[in-house]
Amino acid sequence: MTGFALRDLIDDRPEDGVFRVNRALFRDPDLFDLEMKHIFEGGWVFIGLATQAENPHDYFTSFIGRVPIIVSRDGEGALHCFVNACPHKGVRLIQKLCGNARRHVCPYHSWTFDSAGANKNIKWQKSGCYGAGFDQENHNLAPVAKFGEYRGFLFASLNADVPSLDEHLGEARKLLDLVVDKSPEGVELVPGRVTFTYAANWKMQLENCSDQYHFTSTHPSYIRILDQRAKEQAEDVVQSSLGASDFWQEEASGTSGGTMSFDHGHVLNWGIMPVSSAIPEFERAEQLARDHGEAKRNWMFNMRNLTIFPNLQIAENASSQMRVIRPLAAGLTEMQTWCIAPRGESAQARTFRIRQYEDFFNPTGMATPDDTVCYEEAQLGMAEQDRPWLQGHARGLTASKEGGNMYADMIDLKPARNVVADAQLCDESLFASYYRAWAQRMAEVIA
Ligand code: FES
Ligand SMILES: [Fe+2]
Repeated sequence: MTGFALRDLIDDRPEDGVFRVNRALFRDPDLFDLEMKHIFEGGWVFIGLATQAENPHDYFTSFIGRVPIIVSRDGEGALHCFVNACPHKGVRLIQKLCGNARRHVCPYHSWTFDSAGANKNIKWQKSGCYGAGFDQENHNLAPVAKFGEYRGFLFASLNADVPSLDEHLGEARKLLDLVVDKSPEGVELVPGRVTFTYAANWKMQLENCSDQYHFTSTHPSYIRILDQRAKEQAEDVVQSSLGASDFWQEEASGTSGGTMSFDHGHVLNWGIMPVSSAIPEFERAEQLARDHGEAKRNWMFNMRNLTIFPNLQIAENASSQMRVIRPLAAGLTEMQTWCIAPRGESAQARTFRIRQYEDFFNPTGMATPDDTVCYEEAQLGMAEQDRPWLQGHARGLTASKEGGNMYADMIDLKPARNVVADAQLCDESLFASYYRAWAQRMAEVIA
């Protein structure tokens, strides 16, 4: 038990119109340790795509919380997930991000393992004078407690006492389907990744992906360039999918999108985007409607920012980005990002997607760097001690309704709660889903 009380950290009283979060959640090192143990190392987290280790003996490395892991495809084609630590003295076995190898040799004393994790050699074992106790031990790499896949998305848990992966993902599986079903061949990561490391808490990124409210404030330079390009109408500028829609604009009218929250902390922030040539999938628009029906096709074209709690985000807005959040300390976070794309799209569509991606998401782009600067500024403000409660989780509270709506019904989606944005609501109520999932997991250790 700790000195914290949950009610002092999250003030969740919907009947009184109150939802507040304490700044301590963003800065306290003891809370951070508990989060690592009970959220990141205590339940399912996203670890990568199956296509990142597609061929026999391919591997990639990642982390579950603070624990390094390896995902490896063996010679028979089966995927495994191991703790990336040599059983001899715990040295990290593989240091590279990805590769292909039949054998992995530990850099310290050369214990050797195959791609299925089996120990194949203990250097100088015969002359080692080991006792019977050592001989009886298993010297293979340690598999993680749970490892599962949903349509190429790989998840793992260091804790065996978790619900099934299907139960954990629940309705959010249908939102992953929207990503995967854009191509009969599924999705892949465009080669190359960017790692952002920012001096702020991991939950700043978690919130930002679902935060429509900040867009016009944080990204005015991007919006000005959209305006400029619209005036010039030059053929060599990158067409923008956000420029072709108006759900984010203050003067938008009628229903522009909304938010949905699901069990276990997964959320969706969405906006209506027309089926237009400003979206790289346009080349498949008719085929997708034939294969999946018009409603599901239209949802594939909508702006969708999906979070699978606690560490996966897929942002389909100005292009298509996959983000994986890795907390390093209360005030330090790493975010790895990739462009995620339908397999088998034409070279022209892929080029267009990458240009849009560079425009918005990359460090040289006009959006993500603005966001990360705001996280760092927010982290400085989290030092405030006298007024612990943030006021950033109240907008839209009274608009939030239990269950789904007509837009969710179109694809048979059953959210736990939803908000339909009548023009610019930009609600913050879906963050409650994150913090309720957070509180549920932390309730094991915080009274
Ligand atoms: S730590 Fe790996 S062989 Fe010694
Ligand atoms: Fe942003």
